[in-house]
Amino acid sequence: MTTHFSALRGKNVILGVTGSIACYKAVDIASKLVQAGAVVDTVMTRSAQQFVSSLTFRSLTHRSVVTDLFDAESDDAVEHVALALRADVVLIAPATANVIAKIANGFADDALTAVVLATNAPVLLAPAMEGRMWANAAMRQNVSTLESRGFSFIGPAEGRLASGEMGRGRLEETSTVLNALYEAIGGGSAGDLAGMHVVVSAGGTQEPIDPVRIITNRSSGKQGYAIAEAARDRGARVTLVTAPTALTDPDLIEVVKVGSARDMLASVESALRAGADALVMAAAVADWEPASAAGQKMKKTWETRMTLELTKTPDILATVRELPGVKVGFAAETEDLLGNAKEKLSRKGLDLIVANDVSATDAGFNVDNNRVVILDRDGAQEELPLMSKRDVADRILDRVRGIVDARR
Ligand code: C5P
Repeated sequence: MTTHFSALRGKNVILGVTGSIACYKAVDIASKLVQAGAVVDTVMTRSAQQFVSSLTFRSLTHRSVVTDLFDAESDDAVEHVALALRADVVLIAPATANVIAKIANGFADDALTAVVLATNAPVLLAPAMEGRMWANAAMRQNVSTLESRGFSFIGPAEGRLASGEMGRGRLEETSTVLNALYEAIGGGSAGDLAGMHVVVSAGGTQEPIDPVRIITNRSSGKQGYAIAEAARDRGARVTLVTAPTALTDPDLIEVVKVGSARDMLASVESALRAGADALVMAAAVADWEPASAAGQKMKKTWETRMTLELTKTPDILATVRELPGVKVGFAAETEDLLGNAKEKLSRKGLDLIVANDVSATDAGFNVDNNRVVILDRDGAQEELPLMSKRDVADRILDRVRGIVDARR
């Protein structure tokens, strides 16, 4: 999946990499930044080069990598100052205890600390170290000194550390690091959906029969993920409430993973109660769930038939209809597409419904294209030709934006 988040396009990002085992995650960060169109200059400390080769970053970023203050790869002795002046943002990930201490005290004895001292751009630090080091009094003081000077910290996260111990000191996940970077360059304020919070549901819910068996459906989640990514790229804050899919978590999106229809209802409801502006229910929510899920794996018997009692799942859209926010539903049908869609629009109290014929083989389930009709409360029908799910996403969001604007 390509990473789109337009605010990073053309931005000069300095990626500082220091000597921690978490260096391998910096490779992923560099790759994601390049995919987003950023111009990435990597500055590595000597110890970082023990963990990852500068060639890795050079190959990913297609730019030379600064490895030494008195420069190994360039003839320009003041390269670090030029970099510092050009930078839109400096991200140090992973940031070791040592580099944090050096920056807090104004050292400039390597290329990275020299860049930090010379730049006016925002500097973000994503620490990675042992929990005891992060908790140490000297580190606490360095962190508060840096925060008081306007530096920002991303994490560190709690979890398993390189030593095998649990604690706070893990480099934050790539998506969290990129989110913070995006905010730092004002990414959330660009685009026609800036300031909006959009909740999107995706995937087919899974209703447990017993601890190992489920009832689910063939939804791939592709249309929902495309809507979430399109909303993000247009500047919205996005919460993606997703049932299990085979898709990669999109960056710069809050991904809430759920299993059953009931779990999905709880997450959707809490996002709407927290003030979301729109809900797009692209998930294929199971209509039925086992009346009671068995606590233990059900034993196979010699009977040739078995009966499973099912009860109706809660209708998520109908349950949240009184909560504020534009509501968009989907009608996946194999017959009487428009008739069924209109009936759902009014029964569920929706603003829009996106009708798609899932019996078509070139559109709908599990393919990258979709052919849909968007119906609104006034009875208008917008029939769209076959197009990518990403384009369908943008057309739906155009309509959502129109309704939000009209209500303001
Ligand atoms: O009633 P039907 O399942 O056909 O309606 C489809 C629309 O309603 C989709 O937007 C789906 O996400 C949503 N839905 C729901 N709760 C359910 C079933 C479907 O919100 N229990």
